[in-house]
Amino acid sequence: MAMSINKSIIIISLFAVAGSSSAMGADLERGKALYENHCQFCHSIKVHSRKNRWPKDLDELRGIVDLRQKETNLHWSKEDIDDVVDFLNTTQYNY
Ligand code: HEC
Repeated sequence: MAMSINKSIIIISLFAVAGSSSAMGADLERGKALYENHCQFCHSIKVHSRKNRWPKDLDELRGIVDLRQKETNLHWSKEDIDDVVDFLNTTQYNY
């Protein structure tokens, strides 16, 4: 009986490790999810491919993302902002 409880604890912790390692390095996915959940109710991703785009460089892009998340009271961490900036820069801006 004690054996099988130990085994299930080991199995549960293996799942936990697998789960966290697949989340690591998936920052773009995370940035995409954050964007889709919190930014898209105002504009689609198309706003970022306008000809007269607003941010001129990576710093400005970060500034806008930070401004937006503050305005929307999202309380994003630096990591959240990084992930969304990464996502937008990789898929849209390429600065
Ligand atoms: C309350 C509505 C609203 C929300 C919420 C919002 N945005 Fe925006 N965003 C706008 C509008 C409107 C513009 C266009 C502004 C302009 O043309 O000057 C814009 C433009 C932008 C631009 C510049 C686009 C370009 O290339 O010209 C970026 C970057 C951006 N938003 C990022 C975000 C991010 C990231 C979030 C989520 C944290 C977000 N926005 C949430 C309204 C919103």
